[in-house]
Amino acid sequence: MNGLMRRKSVSLEALHPDHRLKPSLSWWHLIPLGVGAIVGTGIYTLTGVGANLAGPAVILSFLIAGAVCACAALAYAEVATLMPASGGAYTYTYAVVGEVVAWVVGWSLLLEYSVGTSAVAVGWAGYATGFLSAIGVHLPQALTAGLLAGGLVNLPAVLIVFVIAFLLMLGTRESATVNAVLVVIKVAALALFIAVAAPRMDAANFHPFMPYGLAAHPIDGVKHGVMAAAAIIFFAFYGFDTLSTAAEETKNPGRDLPIGIIGSMLVCTAIYIAVAASAVGAVSFKAFAGSPEPLALILRQLGHGQAAIVIGAAAVIALPTVILAFLYGQSRIFFVMARDGLLPQGLSKVHARTKVPVRMTIVTAICVAALAGLAPLDQIASLANTGTLTAFVAVSACLLILRRREPDLPRIYRTPLAWVVAPGAILGCLYLFWSLPTKTRVFFLIWNLLGLVVYALWRWRKPQVAEPETAAT
Ligand code: ALA
Repeated sequence: MNGLMRRKSVSLEALHPDHRLKPSLSWWHLIPLGVGAIVGTGIYTLTGVGANLAGPAVILSFLIAGAVCACAALAYAEVATLMPASGGAYTYTYAVVGEVVAWVVGWSLLLEYSVGTSAVAVGWAGYATGFLSAIGVHLPQALTAGLLAGGLVNLPAVLIVFVIAFLLMLGTRESATVNAVLVVIKVAALALFIAVAAPRMDAANFHPFMPYGLAAHPIDGVKHGVMAAAAIIFFAFYGFDTLSTAAEETKNPGRDLPIGIIGSMLVCTAIYIAVAASAVGAVSFKAFAGSPEPLALILRQLGHGQAAIVIGAAAVIALPTVILAFLYGQSRIFFVMARDGLLPQGLSKVHARTKVPVRMTIVTAICVAALAGLAPLDQIASLANTGTLTAFVAVSACLLILRRREPDLPRIYRTPLAWVVAPGAILGCLYLFWSLPTKTRVFFLIWNLLGLVVYALWRWRKPQVAEPETAAT
C-alpha cells in the first residue's frame, strides 16, 4: 500500500538493532513510572481551579474525569499489548488507520507532552520560587516569569527541564529508579494532607454542593460547572498513556503493561478523591479557589504551618517526576516518527550502550524548555488536554476497529466489555473537549490545520518517504 493511507506492521523483528530500544522495565518499574506521570501539577494546583469552577462538587469533577480516563486506560491496555512498539497512540493509529491520521495524532500528542511538560515545569517553578522565598532567597521577577507572562525568562522552569533530560540520557532504568523514590515522596505528602485535613471536615462546607450546576456554561465569560471543572481537571489524570510508549522497553508487555496502566490509574483515582473531599470539606472552597498552592494554603488555614512547608517542599522535590515521564514519552514519539521517515532520520539513532535516543531527547528538551521559559501557565493545561483527548479517542477507536477487522488476533489482554468501555471513552472525551474554553478549542483546530499543512509540505518535498523499518502492510 502506498500514499496517505499506508499502514505499518508493528513487528519488532524487522528493526535494525541500532534502532531497537532495550527491554529493561517490569510492572514494578511501570507503576511508579505511571503514578509519577499522573500525580503532579493537577492535584497539587488544579484542585483550586476546579473548586473555583464547580464548588464542592469538584469531587464529582474528579470522579467524572477519572471514569473517562479509566475507560481510556482499559482500551490502552489492550491496544498497547497487541502492539508492544514505542510511540503510543501515534504508533497504534499508524498501524490501524494509516499515515495521515497517525500524523494528526502525533501532532496532537505534541500538545499533550510538550505543552503539558512545559506547564508542569512552570508549575514547579512557582512552587520552587515560593519555597526559595520562604527560606530567604528572592529571585527577581524577570527571572521567574516568561516573556509572555510579564517577566523575561522563567529560569527555574528552563533549568528543571534540562536536569531531567540529563537524567533520561543516563539510561531508562536509572531514571525509573530515581523516579520511584520521588513518587513515594509525592504520594506521602498527599497522604499527610489527607491525614491533617480529613478529620477537620465540616458538613457545612459542602453546602451548596453544586453552586454552578452540572453542564459547562459561561459565567462572566468563564465556563463554570462540574463539567467545565472536569475538562480542566482531566489534566490531573493523564500520564498513564506514557506507559504505553514504553511498551518496547518492557520485558513482558502482556503481563506488565495492563498491571502498570490500570494499577497506576486506580492508585491515583483513590488518592485524588480523598484529597478533593478533604480539601473542600475542611475549609470553604472560596478560601482556596484559584490559589497557585491550594493544598499548602488549606493547611495554613487549618493552623498547620509546618505541614504546609512539608507539602511545598515535597512538590518542589517530586513534581519533576511528571516532567521525567512526559519528556520520556515525547522523546519516544519523536523517535518513532523519525524512524518511520516522518521526521529527519538522523535523529532516530539510539546510543550504543544505553539504547537511549540521545539526539531526540536533546531536541525535545530544547523545545520544551523554550516554551516553559516563555509562556504563562494559565490555559496551558487545558490546551495540553486537547491533545490528550485526541489520543484517547484515537486509541479507543483503534481498539474497536481491530476487534472488528482482526477478531482472531492473539490478544494477551482483552478489555472487558470493550463495546461499552471504548465508546464510553470516546463519548466522554468528546464531551470533555466540548466543555473546554472556546478559545482553547479554536487554538486546537488551528494547531491541527497547521499540522496538516506541514504534513502536506513534507509529503510534497519527499513523496517517496523511506519505508518505515517496520514494513508497510
Ligand atoms: N497528570 C499530570 C499532572 O497532574 C499531567 O501534572
